[in-house]
Formats: sequence, structure tokens, C-alpha cells
Amino acid sequence: MTKKVFVTHQLPGDRICELAELCDLNVWMGPGLLPPEALREELSSCQGLLCLLTDRLDRDLIGAMQKLEFVSSMSVGVDHVELSALTERGIPVGNTPGVLVETTADAAFSLLLAAARRISEADRFVRGGHWRAENAWSPEFFTGKDVSGATLGIVGLGAIGQAVARRAAGFGMEVLAWSRNAKSVAGVASVSLDELLLRSDFVSVHTALTDDTRNLMNADRIATMKPGAVLVNTARGGIVDEHALAEALRSGHLYAAGIDVFEREPVPVDNPLLTLPNVVLAPHIGSATTLTRAQMADLAVDNLLAALKGERMPHCVNPEVYQSF
Ligand code: DGY
Repeated sequence: MTKKVFVTHQLPGDRICELAELCDLNVWMGPGLLPPEALREELSSCQGLLCLLTDRLDRDLIGAMQKLEFVSSMSVGVDHVELSALTERGIPVGNTPGVLVETTADAAFSLLLAAARRISEADRFVRGGHWRAENAWSPEFFTGKDVSGATLGIVGLGAIGQAVARRAAGFGMEVLAWSRNAKSVAGVASVSLDELLLRSDFVSVHTALTDDTRNLMNADRIATMKPGAVLVNTARGGIVDEHALAEALRSGHLYAAGIDVFEREPVPVDNPLLTLPNVVLAPHIGSATTLTRAQMADLAVDNLLAALKGERMPHCVNPEVYQSF
């Protein structure tokens, strides 16, 4: 029997055509995201799903997908998917690791540099017509914080954290790291999270969002950070307490922040971070280069192709479902 596969968004590249040869394929062409009710209706008859990180697959929706056999997400993070509910049913979930590592590390470092050197603030200043003869230049004009030679603390030393550490080495930074699973990486000193927060001039978050890491950077931990430090988050919202961060930035305890990911996305307009001049904001674009997004789409398709052929997905986050293979 030909399997039905639903793809929740148009994908870059043309590999999707390979899928069409193997299944009854339906791709949501937009505009915008498919409304949750329509998604539910569509998925009730599908065996396969290719989704994005914006598609929330909770236990209730998964329960309604009675025919579902495999899921592929075009993302490395799978916190939008209630994994246990799929694993219990033996449904493999594919993701797209590896290809976005360097791109996301570039984004993290861009935010770090922009926050340290007040680039967004300076941009707004020039565009706003505030750069005039009377304040053309002065010794204190738009002074920022040095990155070269400073100490960087990496929270979560996975592939992206390690790629950020490589960039930091080029800036002559001392690199500290804390990870849930201790790792030994050349040039990186492994320390406790408390020590990292006390000593780091810059803290960059790279851990996955799980039950253990939700609210990891809570008010107490933010208070422990070195006065004048900068916090960067390109991992997931929900790891950093945004209200505590805003308060620390407002009070001057922290110097600045660079934030690409939020507890709620798109970020609500009343999020307190949006009112602060010393925060560089981005709309979850850590992996957003044309090449990387195409490579992510290819991996997501590879996972589905394997599932349709009855093979193991090349990148599966719950490989325990393959015990019987
Ligand atoms: C992912 O794939 O999980 C990233 O957040 C996308 O940028």
C-alpha cells in the first residue's frame, strides 16, 4: 500500500521530488503555517510526517495520528515533539544534526560581538540621525567591552559549543565549559556551572532544551554571573529566564545580551527584553544560511526516504525503537 506523507512547509532544494516517487505526498504550500486544526485533520490519515520546529507535536495530537509510522523534523532540536509519546508507539523521529554546527556557531559569535561592541545600538543611533557635529566623536563615544583576551563560558559543550570554542581561541579568549556529560576538549577547561558563571565575561548557551535544562539560567544563576558579563543564547528559549535576564540587564548587573531564541516564538511584543537598548535580538536565525537550510532539508528528506524503504533513519533521536531491526 502506498504510504501517505505530509510535509508541513515548502522545503529548499529539489530532493522532495525523490519522496514523491515513493509515497503519496502532500506538501502544505502556505501561505504561513498550517493552522493546528487543519494539521490535525491532515495528519489523521498519514503514515509519515516531515515537520519544522514550529509544528508542536504534543501527546494529544500524536494520539490523534493513529496511522503515524515515522516523523522527520527539519531541525536538530526536537523539543517541539513529545518524544516519549512517539517512542512508546515505536515511531522513529529523525532530526538534522551536524550540518548546522558551524553556521549556528557563527551566529552565536556574531551576537556576542554585536552585544559587546553595541553594534545594534550604534546602528539605531546612526539611522536615527543622532550622529551630529556636536557628538561626532569623543573618547567615551559608544565604548563597549573587549572580547579579545576575555573569558568565555560555554554552557553545553556539544558540537555547536565546541565550534564556538574554536572561534573563541582565534580571539585569544580563555574558554571554560560546563556540560551535563563531562567532555574533554583541547583548549577548553571543564568547570562546574557555578564556577563558569562566576568567572566568565561572556556566557554562551548551547545545551538542548530538556526537562533538566528548562530554566537552567534562572534568576539565582543569573545573579551568580560575573558583574558586567554578557549572555548569549542561540540554543532554545526556556533555558534562560527572560524576566530575570531583563531585570539583570536593566539593573546593570549584566552588561548586555544577544538573544536569538525565546520562550515564546514569535516573541510577544510585551517581552521585557524588547525594551532594552543593551540586548541584540534575532528571530531564531542561528542556522539561517541558504546552504545550511538546504542541507538540513536534504537530511530531513533522507530520514523519510529511509523510513519509506523500511530502513533505519540515518539520524534518529530515539534509536531504541529499532530494537527489532
Ligand atoms: C534547530 O534545528 O533546532 C535549530 O534551532 C534551527 O536553527
